[in-house]
Amino acid sequence: MKPDTRLQHTDAERRQHSTVNPAVERGSSLLIKTRAELYGNGTVYGRMGLGVQRELETALCSLEAGNHAQLTSNGLQACALAVAAVARAGDHVLISDNLYGPNQRFCTRRLKAMGITATRFPPTLPIEQLERLITQNTRAIVMESPGSLSFDIMDTPAIAALARSRALLTILDNTWGAGVFHQPLELGVDLVVQSLTKYVIGHADAMGGVVVTRSEKLARKLFTCANDWGIGLAPDEAYLALRGLRTLLNRLRQHEASGYQIADWLSRRDEVAFLLHPGRPDHPQHALWQRDFTGANGLFGAVLNPVREAELDRFLEALKLFRMGFSWGGFESLLIPCDEQLRRLPGAPILQRNGPLLRLHVGLEAAEDLIADLDQAFQVMADTG
Ligand SMILES: Cc1ncc(COP(=O)(O)O)c(C=O)c1O
Repeated sequence: MKPDTRLQHTDAERRQHSTVNPAVERGSSLLIKTRAELYGNGTVYGRMGLGVQRELETALCSLEAGNHAQLTSNGLQACALAVAAVARAGDHVLISDNLYGPNQRFCTRRLKAMGITATRFPPTLPIEQLERLITQNTRAIVMESPGSLSFDIMDTPAIAALARSRALLTILDNTWGAGVFHQPLELGVDLVVQSLTKYVIGHADAMGGVVVTRSEKLARKLFTCANDWGIGLAPDEAYLALRGLRTLLNRLRQHEASGYQIADWLSRRDEVAFLLHPGRPDHPQHALWQRDFTGANGLFGAVLNPVREAELDRFLEALKLFRMGFSWGGFESLLIPCDEQLRRLPGAPILQRNGPLLRLHVGLEAAEDLIADLDQAFQVMADTG
């Protein structure tokens, strides 16, 4: 069945004589009949998740073409869990320098405290050079494609093949592809991570995360690590994620179409130096994107020609529909200046540019209205120039 159909039919046992959606069971204690069950291997406590979480896990496995899913309370926790579940003290991991900032901090600062070292590498580093960074104790390669600020596309199948040949694991943050436009497990990746907070939940009203794998052995490691740390997703959040999944594909198609329309309009503006949109032929890794992705969402970057800080502030403050705020993937359009974020990140990706980097999330508003909003804000910027 096509994904559009699969995401509407997530109840494995075909609910009858009940609501269409699963019941949300809130609670900690589960009432159990026998001593054998109480101390058995089944679900015995609310933290492990109940019916709605199980149904969400199944749906996310279907989305990401995996067999096992571990839910987490947000995307950062999923990123952290994936690495922590497979690496141990004395190990080394390679991390691409386009990783979501807090994930980079986890992989350097927190892993260091656990006796695990990390080395950054540029996401487009030639494969022979990446191979030279592998040491005797390297355990995993951690990736994100495209980076959510730099939008570089990695050669995922080549890196996964290299990792396999050296008995390493690969982990990829697939939040941008959302399991819809990119399926890293199909490309040979071992563990795929998503922040459900973004496109899956899609309404900016909850947070969640997931790690998906095909390997039973890795699933056991994930489950053990999640259990040791008490990691999971609360039932109401799981319900909202399941509800978001029903319309994920429809929403993404509109984010994609409006994203292209606005990127195209921006590319013709004098204020814009260049765009960072993997779906456009002018993107440096467009060929890789065409090979490994089936679409683009509403998140992309725009580098402006040099402007004074005061002019940039006037532009940002004049916007009415694009509002400033972190995150993306919701129904609402957002726009943030990213320079400060890149400055704060040690080893941030190097982007050759003279002007400021903006990140746009094109929401579900009409593209014409969003263009009019950008247009009037550029005019305000020029008036004060
Ligand atoms: C690419 C990427 N991965 C992970 C995360 C973390 O997700 P969460 O906000 O759910 O912790 C984010 C958040 O912005 C992100 O952009």
